[in-house]
Amino acid sequence: MKRSPVVTGKKAEWYAKHYYSVEDDIIPIFERMDTPFLDKRLKPGMKVLDAMCGRGRHAVRYAKRGCIVTANDLNPHMVAHARRGAKLAGAKISLMTSDATRLRGIKSGSFDAVIAMFSAVGTIPDAKTRQRAMAEFARVVKPGGIVIVHAHNRLDTLFDPGFYPECLRLNFFPKKGQLRGDMITDYNELHDMFNHFYSPAEFRKSFEKAGLKVVEEAYMDYTKRRFITGPLRKLRADGFIFVGKKE
Ligand SMILES: C[S@@+](CC[C@H](N)C(=O)[O-])C[C@H]1O[C@@H](n2cnc3c(N)ncnc32)[C@H](O)[C@@H]1O
Repeated sequence: MKRSPVVTGKKAEWYAKHYYSVEDDIIPIFERMDTPFLDKRLKPGMKVLDAMCGRGRHAVRYAKRGCIVTANDLNPHMVAHARRGAKLAGAKISLMTSDATRLRGIKSGSFDAVIAMFSAVGTIPDAKTRQRAMAEFARVVKPGGIVIVHAHNRLDTLFDPGFYPECLRLNFFPKKGQLRGDMITDYNELHDMFNHFYSPAEFRKSFEKAGLKVVEEAYMDYTKRRFITGPLRKLRADGFIFVGKKE
């Protein structure tokens, strides 16, 4: 199992310290889309696992709204942020620092919903390990429960001429040792960050392989901060949220 180098060891503290520099820019955009999307699906009383919770923005919100929330992140410094956030908000959350690919101590069928937002699964640097995380989400959700995951879209780069060299590499000519969709990016204070950008078909396959039936697909335009529909949505969306149901 391959882990991101920034979630454990020395880099974990650095990552958690500078993560705000990504959140400050991007999360206000996301919160216009992923939060309203979750609001409609996570109802008071539901048992929810935020499997790769980061600083706990969703964990705190849904605990405040009456869900019974467990927040997990392999990076203990991120979990410390989530703990502080919960305390400040007066929200009760159970916290864990397990690897999402092996959620130790969680019995199968424990949750009504599992969430992994803002390309959290995409930060895992290897396809088999990403799939292992998806399988673990499917294991810990109850039959009839839902798994909600967000990913960035690698196909939308085909519509951005400024991005063409990178797009060709991303979609057709991955670097040695990388797969289509693998990206190493710098963002503000954070450098050399791995992220896997999915195609919608690849993402769907990953749910199905984990034994989850895709029951909803929502396509996001980050610039316009809205969901998009229509025949070109799979090519034009910057990212997507899929909901998988365990039958
Ligand atoms: C891009 S952040 C997303 C955070 C949060 N889900 C959100 O929507 O704001 C990805 C998070 O996944 C965590 N992470 C990466 N690999 C992990 C793993 N194998 N197990 C658990 N957490 C992991 C990172 O520490 C980081 O906090």
